[in-house]
Amino acid sequence: MAAEVNEFIMIDIQATAQTKARYNRIAGIFDFLEWLMERRAKAWRRQLWESIGPGEILEVGIGTGKNLPFYPEGGKICGIDLSNGMLTQARRRADRDGIDLDLREMDVQELDFPDGSFDAAVATFVFCSVPDPILGMQELARVVKPGGKIVLLEHVRLDHPLAGWLMDCINPLVVRMVGANINRRTVDNAKRAGLVLESVVDMAANGLVKLITARPYK
Ligand SMILES: C[S@@+](CC[C@H](N)C(=O)[O-])C[C@H]1O[C@@H](n2cnc3c(N)ncnc32)[C@H](O)[C@@H]1O
Repeated sequence: MAAEVNEFIMIDIQATAQTKARYNRIAGIFDFLEWLMERRAKAWRRQLWESIGPGEILEVGIGTGKNLPFYPEGGKICGIDLSNGMLTQARRRADRDGIDLDLREMDVQELDFPDGSFDAAVATFVFCSVPDPILGMQELARVVKPGGKIVLLEHVRLDHPLAGWLMDCINPLVVRMVGANINRRTVDNAKRAGLVLESVVDMAANGLVKLITARPYK
């Protein structure tokens, strides 16, 4: 059976298990694989976290914990990830840097938190790999308090016709290798999820990386 159905949600169990297995497989070398991109990404991460105030904050798809150095003063952070391997790396980093962190293995498509639990939710380079990104974003809107903030830093499909087509062509290969889709239309997905977009900022000159700030629809 490929999907789990209940009254509210439908999750592709097979795709989710594959995503988890892929990230478990690369967890130990993830930081090495991304070291070049990370040289640019640090400034993007800093800019994102400067917009987040103190309070209860949810980071989804925390990965190996690359955002830890940028967490705001007074922020009580809960980090979740589908991959226990990635969480192990995040735990190591938090212990090494003396950062207090509540880490949990969880699927963003089915968050185990009551409605309105958080002042803000953050995801960096996550919705490229979540099997159903719209479901995941709807979950963020559910667990963030009315008036709270949802901030996403994501690489997206380029609008340029040829570049977009090329991204579509090589996407299956990239997914198999590192678990990330390079052709997601994440701004459209956020709208389709019902998020109220406040701003979409191009972080890279070609529009490849976007900082999306939104409010839940409540
Ligand atoms: C490309 S990595 C990014 C990690 C980290 N946010 C960063 O900026 O380096 C994507 C992360 O999203 C996690 N992920 C993918 N699908 C998920 C899901 N459905 N629920 C929670 N985490 C998920 C993966 O396990 C992985 O750790």
